[in-house]
Amino acid sequence: MAKRFMPTIVRNPEPSEGPRVDLRSPGFRILVVEDETLIRDILVRKLKGLGYECDSCENGLAALNLLPASAYDLILTDLMMPELGGLSLLRETQKFCPDTAVILVTSVSDLNIAIDALTHGAYDYILKPFSLQEVSVVVARALEKRRLLLENRRYQQHLEEEVASRTKQFREALELLQQTYHSTLLALGTALDSRDADSDGHALRVTLYTLRLARQVGASEADLKTIEQGALLHDIGKIGVPDDLLRKPEKLSESEWQLMRLHPEIGYRILSRISFLQDAAKMVLNHQEKYDGTGYPAGLRGNEVVLSARIFAVADTLDCMTTDRPFQRAVTFELAREEIIRVAGTQLDPAIVGKFLEIPLDEWKTIAQEVKAKAKAHRQVS
Ligand SMILES: [Fe+2]
Repeated sequence: MAKRFMPTIVRNPEPSEGPRVDLRSPGFRILVVEDETLIRDILVRKLKGLGYECDSCENGLAALNLLPASAYDLILTDLMMPELGGLSLLRETQKFCPDTAVILVTSVSDLNIAIDALTHGAYDYILKPFSLQEVSVVVARALEKRRLLLENRRYQQHLEEEVASRTKQFREALELLQQTYHSTLLALGTALDSRDADSDGHALRVTLYTLRLARQVGASEADLKTIEQGALLHDIGKIGVPDDLLRKPEKLSESEWQLMRLHPEIGYRILSRISFLQDAAKMVLNHQEKYDGTGYPAGLRGNEVVLSARIFAVADTLDCMTTDRPFQRAVTFELAREEIIRVAGTQLDPAIVGKFLEIPLDEWKTIAQEVKAKAKAHRQVS
């Protein structure tokens, strides 16, 4: 087949304009695809002379056979060839070797095809007749462009990996922080219990009861966190109540009761200064209020009492009735449930009591047993 154009050997020794490019770039692998033997040999000799590793073949089909085994940095291919032309080779290369740069060698009559190929991923084109100097510049420029693209991609990947790694570290740190907060609150709740002679395990038990009931009411995960904090720390204000009053075996006098009734407000003042406990602080402030307005400190009624505190009130009633107290022996869960039904609408929110009744008594008993077992294990360790 007669060749359409012949190369002009070093027609233009020094390019008059364009970016300064290092024409000697040893180490890169180039594949020359050209059906005209003479042109192919001239190109290969020139590129090898510039320090490139260079293979060659006579058409696109032969090139496809070479691609899987050889990682070429660049393919310099004629556009019109028998078997498989340059455009098809470009498409296949992009599919299987997307990091290989492709330069098309074309005649003026195929120029529009070559320009169109640029929009489909070709790095550049060389118009016949060409000078070998021109080929050197275009090849070096394409390899530099490819290097920058790969570097940029590596940088992006590195950046993404870095962001993913930092995000993971941040999540882990946050999780650790939350676990630490949780352990601290649990320890504080247990410490508060130990001051109160008659409330062994009360803070943990009433917290688990409250959480179970809150789930039944449909509380969100965020609300459950607040509810857990508030329940664990509901009596933190008792820090402000003297020990002898807290542990007094006899009934409290009216003045002593007045002192005792300050504990929700003291608790609120302590917790409201801690940003992540501000919602829990409102629950603590309301935890001794009653549905009919007969509670303290503010005598709030109905929905004026925050929902978390109304849920807590049912759980607290259950726990107080089913554990031994100085002036009251523990009753069965069955009897406690009867009493809760009786005070629905007066001391307790009837809607919350309705939710409480949906939960089988065995679940409450299981929670109580688990807390008892935990407390026993804890005593054995300490
Ligand atoms: Fe209390």
